[in-house]
Amino acid sequence: MAAQLGGTPVLILKEGTERTRGKDATSVNIQAARVIADSIRSALGPRGMDKMLVDNFGDVVITNDGATILKEIDVQHPVAKFVVELAKSQDDEVGDGTTTVVIIAGEFLKQAERLLELEVHPTVIVEGLRKATEKAMELIDVNSRRVTIDNVSELKKVAMTAMASKVVVGSSDYLSDLVVKAVRSVATQRDGKWKVDIDDIAMTKKEGESLEDTILVTGLVIDKEVVHAQMPKTMKNAKIALLAGALEITKTEFDAKINITSADQMKLFLDREQSLLSEMADVIKNAGTTVAFCQKGIDDLVQHYLARAGILAIRRVKKSDMDKLAKATGGKIITNVRELDAEDLGSADLVEERKIGDDKMVFIEGAPEAKAISILIRGGTELVVDEAERALHDAIMVVRDVVEDEKVVAGGGAIEAELAAEISKWSATFSGKEQLAIEGFAKSLEIIPSTLAENAGLDPIDIMVELRSKHESDGSTWGVDILNGRVADMANTIVVEPAAVKRHAISAASEAAQMILRIDDVIAAKELEGGGPPGGGPPGAEGEGEFD
Ligand SMILES: Nc1ncnc2c1ncn2[C@@H]1O[C@H](COP(=O)(O)OP(=O)(O)OP(=O)(O)O)[C@@H](O)[C@H]1O
Ligand SMILES: [Mg+2]
Repeated sequence: MAAQLGGTPVLILKEGTERTRGKDATSVNIQAARVIADSIRSALGPRGMDKMLVDNFGDVVITNDGATILKEIDVQHPVAKFVVELAKSQDDEVGDGTTTVVIIAGEFLKQAERLLELEVHPTVIVEGLRKATEKAMELIDVNSRRVTIDNVSELKKVAMTAMASKVVVGSSDYLSDLVVKAVRSVATQRDGKWKVDIDDIAMTKKEGESLEDTILVTGLVIDKEVVHAQMPKTMKNAKIALLAGALEITKTEFDAKINITSADQMKLFLDREQSLLSEMADVIKNAGTTVAFCQKGIDDLVQHYLARAGILAIRRVKKSDMDKLAKATGGKIITNVRELDAEDLGSADLVEERKIGDDKMVFIEGAPEAKAISILIRGGTELVVDEAERALHDAIMVVRDVVEDEKVVAGGGAIEAELAAEISKWSATFSGKEQLAIEGFAKSLEIIPSTLAENAGLDPIDIMVELRSKHESDGSTWGVDILNGRVADMANTIVVEPAAVKRHAISAASEAAQMILRIDDVIAAKELEGGGPPGGGPPGAEGEGEFD
């Protein structure tokens, strides 16, 4: 980029910098967002297709989850990346509706593009989007129903709707019961409002058996086994030590040479090593420990001493599991075993190793801070278990959304169709180009019922004509009943969604569209050669994190 100063060009940007401005920039950005939206449209709804994604390492993921699909595809364009972030934020905040949010954002931009061609200025479109979004938030509230934590059957419907579009739909009846039970049992009331910390619901996956062998455990499940055959496999009234450091003699960082010149010296050396190890076991025993979870390794000798003391020990426990154990058992994680004392111990009614399929796992039940609950997911193959975890995540989040917000809306595109109808009417109170922008917003929302219909093999045009007339004359809860292939009053079906998911989807999609429309200048630095990180190392090379 250069400006002129008395005939001399002044260079402002680095050589190689690319700059796109004005309409070109906007239109390229809109295209990038729309390509992403179009690529996941076919995944929407219970008849949506799944995607099979294969990464550089050949690992395969089969999923219908919008956020997961977008996370796995490696997009380059900055606006495309932004859309991927949009799905992620939907996933983090409300857990479901990640496909919806991207499709709606794409449609907002499609309508905007049409208006730009009609010479409507981007700021007018942005303002229209902003006003219409505010109106949509009000209308979602007006069209929602109250569902409280005691309404188990409604909560179950919400969970079933979230799972309706997932591979595990066949077992959604069974899994929904489990999800509702789990969420209700970790919910706590604060100032009259229910709160759910979803970290209190742990998920552990184990291939084998079938989805319906998935169980709820009040407590934690650790995917490890008792380290030594002679240790007890069951411990009641467990006193639990949580050790972050290794129960081994750590090798020095440097090469050291020890000159041993006599057999006596050798014996001394070995005795010393042995006594250090037995000291470790003694400290653990003397603190009153009956169960020890160690994040690192446990030396054979220490294992032997602990077994002799009747202590149940588990090694190489994941850091995240250690944190959960600390929270549930009330124990403190100790880095240096020598500092362990009785006060640091946590407790639980029962710690037990059980056989699950071909493997053994350790169950911790009846811990004092036992808000924690685990779902032990079973299923035929790794792919099924992985997708089940994602589906359960969505289901847990939507039930949480409703428990906290106490509002649901009719699904199957009903709420979107109602908002479209109402906002389109409301747009008549505005004049000129602003009216066009608000109408564009309203029209965009119809993409949800119309895509649901299209994905189910129905004729979207016929369906939308019928749906509009129903909203005009019969009521606000009509939508596309996919399983029966017709337009129906969704209030009479089990298709129910949290109002929070719709609020977030529409407002986040609108914000994203507004942000994209406001950009009229893209200044991109020249890409580094090889695309690698500065310093020239290949991306993701071994040795990553070596300075940790
Ligand atoms: N039986 C059904 N009949 C009609 N529509 C349904 C039915 N079950 C679910 N839906 C609709 O399907 C849509 C959700 O589809 P899907 O779960 O594939 O996408 P998403 O929730 O936007 O994204 P993701 O679940 O990937 O985060 C919602 O609009 C919901 O109302
Ligand atoms: Mg969903």
